[in-house]
This record gives sequence, structure tokens and C-alpha cells, in this order.
Amino acid sequence: MKLTIRLETPENYRAVEELTREAFWGCMEHPTCDGEHLIVHRLRGLPAFVPELDFVAEAEGKIVGHVIYSRAKIVAADGREEGVLTFGPLSVLPDYQKKGVGSALMRHSIARARELGYRAILIYGHPDYYPRFGFQRAARYGVTTPKGDSFDSLMAMELYDGALDGLSGKFYEDEVFQVSPKEIEEFDKTFPPKAPARILPLDVLSEKLSAPVFQVLADHKIDCVPRLQRFSGAELLSWGVGEKGLAEINRCLEELGFSKKLILSPGI
Ligand SMILES: CC(C)(COP(=O)(O)OP(=O)(O)OC[C@H]1O[C@@H](n2cnc3c(N)ncnc32)[C@H](O)[C@@H]1OP(=O)(O)O)[C@@H](O)C(=O)NCCC(=O)NCCS
Repeated sequence: MKLTIRLETPENYRAVEELTREAFWGCMEHPTCDGEHLIVHRLRGLPAFVPELDFVAEAEGKIVGHVIYSRAKIVAADGREEGVLTFGPLSVLPDYQKKGVGSALMRHSIARARELGYRAILIYGHPDYYPRFGFQRAARYGVTTPKGDSFDSLMAMELYDGALDGLSGKFYEDEVFQVSPKEIEEFDKTFPPKAPARILPLDVLSEKLSAPVFQVLADHKIDCVPRLQRFSGAELLSWGVGEKGLAEINRCLEELGFSKKLILSPGI
């Protein structure tokens, strides 16, 4: 498949919002796309938008993927604010997933962000996906959520050596990422009607996993299968599922069409 990556143009806006809606529909814990298309729609009109890092991927004569970046900040304990980038949503049409489109968009945009002289990229995202591009746990740099929490799905990547040295603090995204259910519902009405997706409850794994492994997941409030995407293989191990348990979980995830949990090296 020949893939072309280029900047998004205003003529692409609606097609990209439709693509975002398709990519995210039921893919996490929500039966719709949970406002990701509205975030894209609003972001392009805001100062936080970075038009030089707003890319589409084209294949077979249509847009099959998209990534959009925005300005974010790390606020240090003494109140100092330092600008960083974040990205998202990153979307690939379901029929084109697992064919390298997301990776191509990530590699292209990271290289461009580096050329443009940006310092670092921070992201809340799938903790077993982004490390392949050079993202590490943000906790490694002393960067936490605004509430001071650390988890593997908050990741950071320096765009030059030492870019995050001495920059520990709290990571803040633009407010565009806060969208209300009412706003999402109204915006979604402007798209063709689409039935809500079925979210697989954790119970579908009760027969497939050994009882202690299932119990660990239930104890960690994993109430549906897609929720597992929020946690890394390392986090699951730290909960006590054990390597055999992780292998059981991975067998189930693969069977159900989800990506496997990875065990990344402790340094990452
Ligand atoms: C996540 C997404 C952007 C990845 O793009 P893609 O084009 O399908 O991915 P690529 O083909 O580049 O990479 C495929 C690899 O990533 C892995 N991967 C894909 N999604 C993953 C996830 N959620 N968690 C962990 N690994 C994942 C695949 O298992 C595959 O691994 P392999 O190379 O070992 O076989 C795409 O699946 C998508 O749009 N998903 C729905 C929206 C979404 O979740 N966006 C990201 C939010 S942070």
C-alpha cells in the first residue's frame, strides 16, 4: 500500500472529522467516539493549534489517517511554565489499522517537530503503543498529571538531548480537550446516524482467564475489555497478574482483536 503524508487543508476538515469518528467509535470504554471529532473540529481554530504539525495520511485515493498537535505546558513547583507539544487525536480508519499508517504519521510528525525546534512531546495514550517511537514514562522526568498522579499512559519524549532536564512539574493540555457530553451529543448529530458500539464487559473473560487473574483485573476496576488499553503490561504485572497471567490476558486480547500488552524494559 502506497502511503502519502501531507499537511491537512481546510477542504479535508470534514473528511478528517468523519475519519476520527470512525477510528474512535467504541474503541475505548465509550460506545461512541467520545468527542474526539469535536476536539479536532475546535482545535483548528485555537491558538494552541500547530498547523505545521497537522498531517493526513492518504492511501488508495482517500484519507486514511490523521494526527493533530497542540501546544501544552509543564508547570513547575515554583510556577515557572515551559511550553511543550502534545498530540491527539491520532486516528486511522478501522480498515487501515495495523498496516503501519499510525506509525508513519507518528514518525513523520515527530521528525518535523524536531526540525521545527520544539522541545518535547507529552501524551496521554496507549502505553504499549507509543514507546516504539521513543516515548518514555513521564514519571521518569518527574512530570505528573495536574493532580500529581503518575501512570504509564502519561508519556514524554525529548526532541533533543536533555530537553526535559530540570523541567519536572505538572502537565497541562489545552482546555479544548475538555468537552461535555451535551456538546458531544449535539456535534455528533451533524454526522450520519450510527448505532452505539457494544463495549465488551470484563465478564467475557471470566471463563477464559484463571480465577485469580480475573480477580486482579476486577479489583483494579477493569470493568470492560477496552479499558485494559489504558494500562501497560508492566502495570498489569505490578498488580500481581504474573507473567503467566499476562500471557493468558494477551491470548484473550488477541482473540478479541485487541493489541497485546507488552513488557517494556524497566528503564522506559
Ligand atoms: C492506535 C492507532 C492510531 C494505531 O495505528 P495503526 O496504523 O493501527 O498502527 P500501526 O500499524 O502503525 O502499528 C501496529 C502495531 O501497533 C500495535 N497497536 C495498535 N494499537 C495499539 C494499542 N492500542 N495498544 C498497544 N499496541 C497497539 C499493534 O498491535 C501493532 O503491533 P505489532 O507491530 O507488534 O504488530 C489506530 O489503531 C487507531 O486509530 N485506533 C483508534 C483510535 C486510537 O486509539 N487512537 C490513539 C489514541 S492514544
